[in-house]
Amino acid sequence: MNNILRAKNLGKVYRVGKIDIHAVRGVNLDVEKGEFVSIVGPSGCGKSTLLHLMGGMAKPTTGKVFIEGTDLSMISDGERAKIRRDKIGFVFQRFNLFSALNSQQNLEIAMQICHNGNIDHQRIKEIMKLVGLENKLQHKPLELSMGEQQRVAIARALVNNPLLILADEPTGNLDSANSYKVLYLLKDLNRNLGQTIVLITHNQEASKIADRKIEMKDGMIISLS
Ligand SMILES: Nc1ncnc2c1ncn2[C@@H]1O[C@H](COP(=O)(O)OP(=O)(O)O)[C@@H](O)[C@H]1O
Ligand SMILES: [Mg+2]
Repeated sequence: MNNILRAKNLGKVYRVGKIDIHAVRGVNLDVEKGEFVSIVGPSGCGKSTLLHLMGGMAKPTTGKVFIEGTDLSMISDGERAKIRRDKIGFVFQRFNLFSALNSQQNLEIAMQICHNGNIDHQRIKEIMKLVGLENKLQHKPLELSMGEQQRVAIARALVNNPLLILADEPTGNLDSANSYKVLYLLKDLNRNLGQTIVLITHNQEASKIADRKIEMKDGMIISLS
């Protein structure tokens, strides 16, 4: 089976005081194994909400998310957390690295969570090499450039060999040179390792790196290419 992610009539309403905010409305989307898909749209159009729904981090108001055919609404919170942990690698705009830990330790923590405390040091070295930072294992986040920090965060997302990478504005904090490096790193991971990636961005230029671009506006998908 090649379908990794399926969203069916997905909707999310936030209630703030007495106001309903329809952040995501009736989204249908399929992502197949090996695809590199971007979702692009202006700030506030519901991209992050959609990513949280797709990654099982938030529950939809309407509709369903399937990961490899498993309906996330039909399983327990614990089972959903396990799918999130074992199958999805998240990359965020703010990197979310532990600042007191060096690159290697940041990867070790991610690996331990998935593997009952076991650490494969060789794999950590290989992944850091893959992102071009094999000489930065001992550096803490503040001893790295912003672009390098994001590459460590991508390495962390890869460490457990995820089925799917969900990246939310991974270049949002980066200058254009570093954005370019991060986008081409994602492209390489997709091309060379067949890594399935969903990239979310407000930047039209960045979205072009993907093979398939989906445009979002006002919580809805307005075009598929
Ligand atoms: N936790 C929340 N509570 C209430 N409203 C929210 C929450 N998160 C997002 N929103 C609102 O939902 C809409 C979509 O937000 P978001 O998914 O963050 O969009 P994007 O990532 O495209 O900028 C916005 O109007 C935002 O203000
Ligand atoms: Mg967002």
